Amino acid sequence: MILDTSVDISAVVTEYGLARHIEELDEVGLTVVSQETLRLSDAWINRLRDALIKVGEERTGASLNLHENPQTEFPGRPSEIGHIIFPSLLFEGRPFVDVLTHPVKKALMNHLLGDGHLLSVSDGWVKWQTPETWPDPVTTGFHADQSAVPAPWNWRLPHVANMNWTLTDYTKDDGALAYVPGSHRKERLPELEEALPLAVPVVAPKGSLVIFSGALWHGAYRKTTPGLRVTMLGQHCRPYMRPFEDFKGKLPEQIFASSEDPAYLRTLLLEGLG
Ligand SMILES: [Fe+2]
Repeated sequence: MILDTSVDISAVVTEYGLARHIEELDEVGLTVVSQETLRLSDAWINRLRDALIKVGEERTGASLNLHENPQTEFPGRPSEIGHIIFPSLLFEGRPFVDVLTHPVKKALMNHLLGDGHLLSVSDGWVKWQTPETWPDPVTTGFHADQSAVPAPWNWRLPHVANMNWTLTDYTKDDGALAYVPGSHRKERLPELEEALPLAVPVVAPKGSLVIFSGALWHGAYRKTTPGLRVTMLGQHCRPYMRPFEDFKGKLPEQIFASSEDPAYLRTLLLEGLG
């Protein structure tokens, strides 16, 4: 099996006009790519969103209406009330495979993690209005995704990176990701209370792709509006790391064969390694 081990991203960077996004990843640690730049239709985005909602309804038995808070009580710790995460979406159908092989996502992930990077999680995140009883301005505390690796880090060579596809509009009031621009260059985790005063929200319309370094300090603001924030997540890691979820050997061959980028998909999922 030939693995996709040497990827030249320059042609995609030129074709899609990604130079600014590469610069942002280096300077800010995070970039937002618009649906227009991604050249994706509303139908493509809606298909992914609807598939995620459907899986959420099947797994919970709850009715998930985009414009309302769920009527169902979900079990969990107080810090988990107000959102629910659905893992292993890769196995739930085509939209969750296609989201991995988009050429812009591939190029930006390659910029951060180099050749041979792996998919670590394939999660859907559905968040609704934060209950009044929740006392904090953030619903996800500030952290960096690569905290499993002891600091100091090298910001130029992050160990992990994340993609967030915004499948509903994404604003501070809608419970967006909060992040500290440039914090990846500190090459360490934030101290308690250090990040919040420096944080800003990711503001992105539905259909955007948010990519950020695993060294970036981030959390999430409380959601003050009713209805759902729907996001497709995909943390990735360098090949020397072990992915959080084991995807190897679990997708049928026809999924690879019909992918728009079979070699990259095999690499991401460790497929083809002995
Ligand atoms: Fe995170």
